[in-house]
Formats: sequence, C-alpha cells, structure tokens
Amino acid sequence: MQKIGSIEVLPNILLAPLAGFTDSAYRRIVKEFSAGIVYTEMISSMGVFYKDKKTLELMRFYEEERPIAAQIFGSIPDKLAYAASVMEDAGFDLVDINMGCPTPKIVKSGAGAALLKDLSLVKDIIKAVRKAIKVPLTIKIRKGFAKKDNVVKEVGKIAEGEGANAIALHGITAEEFFKSDAEDWSSIKTLKKTVKIPVIGNGGIKTEEDVLRMFKETGVDYVMVGRATMGVPYFIKSAFLYITTGEKYTLGLKEKLYIIVRHIKYEVQDKGEERGIREMRKIISHYVKGMKNAARFRERLNGVATEKEMIRLVEEIFSAQGG
Ligand SMILES: Cc1cc2nc3c(=O)[nH]c(=O)nc-3n(C[C@H](O)[C@H](O)[C@H](O)COP(=O)(O)O)c2cc1C
Repeated sequence: MQKIGSIEVLPNILLAPLAGFTDSAYRRIVKEFSAGIVYTEMISSMGVFYKDKKTLELMRFYEEERPIAAQIFGSIPDKLAYAASVMEDAGFDLVDINMGCPTPKIVKSGAGAALLKDLSLVKDIIKAVRKAIKVPLTIKIRKGFAKKDNVVKEVGKIAEGEGANAIALHGITAEEFFKSDAEDWSSIKTLKKTVKIPVIGNGGIKTEEDVLRMFKETGVDYVMVGRATMGVPYFIKSAFLYITTGEKYTLGLKEKLYIIVRHIKYEVQDKGEERGIREMRKIISHYVKGMKNAARFRERLNGVATEKEMIRLVEEIFSAQGG
C-alpha cells in the first residue's frame, strides 16, 4: 500500500481542507464512504498559541476519521512549530502546513499563499515544524503567488530537503484565485518529476473521469478533491471505483436523504442546535442542487431554526422528487 511517511493511505484519493465545510461532521459523512486522508479546516497557529476557543474547537475529531491531517496556517516558524506539536499531542496522524490560501485576510497576515513570495521563510517554517513533530509532515501549496510565478520546483526541493513527507499542489496561482480555466496540471507534472516524495495533485476535479485524467496526465501518487464532494460525499468512493473498475457509485434518493439527516444530526451534536442548523444551511444547498424546486426550498431553509424543522423540510423536498 502507498504511504505518506509511516501512514498507509488507501484509497489514493484524499479529501481537501475546505474552511466552512470540512468540519468533523462533514469528514465523518465522507469517511462513511471512503477517503485516503481527511484534513481539518485550516487552523490558525496564533489561535492555537493563544488558546482561542474557536480555534481549539476546530481540532475536534472522532476515531473513525483516521487517518486525519491537521492543517495549520501562519507565518512565524516557531509559532507554527508550536501549533504542530499541539496537533501531534492531540493525536492527529499528520500535520499539514497551509502555503496556498489566497484569501485577502490570510495573505495580508503573511500566511497562506503569501509564503510563496519568500522561499527562505518557507524553508525556515518547514525546518522548524519538522523539528517539532515526529508524525508525517506535508505542505499544501499553489503554483505561485503572482500570475506569472511558478515556484513548484524550488518549493519542492526545499520541502524534500527539509524532510517533508509529501506535497499537495493546487496547480494555479494565488492571483488567479479560483478561476476555473486557469488550472495548470502541467505544473503538477513538473513537481512530480522534481521530487521523490509523494505528490498530491489538486484542483479542478469535477467528475470521476477528471480524477483518472489527473493520475494519467501528471503521474501523481494521490489526487485531492474538494468542491466535487460538496453535496456528493460519496464522490471519492465513486472516483476510486471508477479508476479501478470503470463503474461509478450512485445513491438512490432515500439513501441520500438518510445521509443529509445524519449530517444534520452530527452537526447539531457537535455544535449545538443554533450553530449547527445555521451551518447546515449552506451544506444542504449543495445536497439539493439540481433537484426540483431547489431554489424555493433554499429560501425556506433560511427560515428554519431547529433540527426537527430542518429534517422535516428536507424530507418534504425529497418526497416532492417522487422518491
Ligand atoms: C470554500 C473553500 C474553502 C477552502 N478552505 C481551504 C483551507 O482551509 N485550506 C486549504 O489548504 N485550502 C482550502 N481551500 C482550497 C481547497 O483545499 C482546494 O485546494 C481547492 O478548492 C481546489 O480543489 P477542488 O477544485 O477539488 O475544490 C478551500 C477551497 C474552498 C472552495
């Protein structure tokens, strides 16, 4: 079986970190089907240092989520090293450093993709974090910061030299943000050719066919999928089935309804009813995408305040589909 450091990873398709989505409930739902590794939402190293309550909540996970990576972000090597050691002590199987987030708030603080503008800092960070933990260390990068940048070779060599165990690459620059036609898988192929440690290809996967194509075109060891799992928590299972047998995995309406109900219950269990229901609104919008009356349903969803009401409303839309 393929490994990242000491961790066996199967299937070779991973769930990407998605802030605001991939909390423990989301990860557990995806994991019921399949995922090689799941990642937490990004966790602030400064928040860990100051023991911020909201930050520490992001560290909660259940045994069935393993193997699970904690993703940390920040720009100060010793703070990241400290946060990494806290993650190791909390029992995470791997630690990942966010070097790719392009959102203005994160970039302004010097973290995320801003790090790609200062490769000596990248080196210092990986060195410091590596020293602080024994569990496998990975980094998640973009192709570069500015549109014209491509730093994958340099960063790849630095990461490998400093003892990182794998690199995840979203083949797009920070300035290109999430522009769908700017995904550049050739940069992923270049990284794969540059380093010996495993490479995790990421970005622009919409279908099972795309997963197969990324493996073929880039030669990566793993593919990481984010948005394609929104509303389709069995996407990774289906994609793995597709690359191994040519078949896809599908679910009937009733099974899909059960998943949503379970997702609501997990969320409320973890975050309490008020917050759980609020956060489920956007998640359910993805689940009902493409369904009959989805737009009207979304409006009604915003008026729902309790778990019971939310489940009843979801049951209603599903029965209106004729299933
Ligand atoms: C809503 C949202 C939240 C994200 N949050 C994170 C994050 O916390 N950490 C991170 O490294 N990347 C984050 N990303 C980037 C994804 O992990 C991934 O690299 C990107 O979406 C491309 O993969 P995809 O096309 O399969 O979604 C986020 C992306 C989205 C859309």
